[in-house]
Amino acid sequence: PDINLQEIHDTLVEVAFEAGRMILAANPNNIDKGSKMNSADIVTETDQAVERMVSTTLRSKYPSFSFVGEETYVAGETKVTSAPTFIVDPIDGTTNFVHGYPHGFCISLGFALDRRPAVGVVYNPALDTLWTATKGQGAYCQRNASLEPGKGQGPKQKLPLNGGQPLGDLSTALVAVEWGSQREGKNFDIKTRVFRQLTAAKENGGCMVHSLRSLGSAALNICAVAAGQVDMYWEGGCYAWDVTAGWCILEEAGGIMVSANPGDWNPELDSRLYLAVRGAESGQKEIVEEFWGVVGDD
Ligand code: IPD
Repeated sequence: PDINLQEIHDTLVEVAFEAGRMILAANPNNIDKGSKMNSADIVTETDQAVERMVSTTLRSKYPSFSFVGEETYVAGETKVTSAPTFIVDPIDGTTNFVHGYPHGFCISLGFALDRRPAVGVVYNPALDTLWTATKGQGAYCQRNASLEPGKGQGPKQKLPLNGGQPLGDLSTALVAVEWGSQREGKNFDIKTRVFRQLTAAKENGGCMVHSLRSLGSAALNICAVAAGQVDMYWEGGCYAWDVTAGWCILEEAGGIMVSANPGDWNPELDSRLYLAVRGAESGQKEIVEEFWGVVGDD
């Protein structure tokens, strides 16, 4: 089919603003306790209502495209295929939404073609900050994004914001990581080990990075890497809806997404390790190798 990425981008921006209005008007305490893995894996009625609005809007405008959303994902059934597919997280950073922590929740709207990110729209409604990219057209950040042009709407700033300075080694890096909600098993064990190893003093076998950061939203962590605000972001346990939109923004900003299972977004995969590295004139390959040495192969 003839696919107009610019039109999809513009549609996703409108949908993101509508979702933002719903999120800001909602009561975050309506937690649906029934459906998730454990008490740290939170879903609210707002996550579900926003996903319904997004899927209804996108399915009516693009009836032949596939749709994958976090709240309607069915283990064993939902797959990311090579069809044109919207991949959506209605609220990424639900824990921050519930706690009223404004820096780390957003709506993450991705569009993939042949399992590759082609459009990404990430919108933080509390800060009214919009991150966008369309394949081949660059990546942008805009503050006061939902205001009318000329009435306080910020300029569209091209990413990366710092112009892609060279990357040093891990000891000079600011690294975003997340605990996620999985608190046992292989990914949890890897994280516990990796976080210690990244921060420990060199004489104790660590890399002693400048520091670790956790925004509490995979999509916003990836956008921060795309902007050059942090050097890299690593997490074990991300799903396609956590990474697709940000992945497009990152690549269009010259960054790279390194996945343990490149291009294979089967949500059942056990490892689901993702490493995002910012755009840089040099040092990307070296820092990836150094980091992968810390994580190990298992
Ligand atoms: C979660 C957030 C969190 C990350 C988890 C995600 P959700 O998404 O992105 O930062 O650590 O892996 O599942 O559940 O808030 O949509």
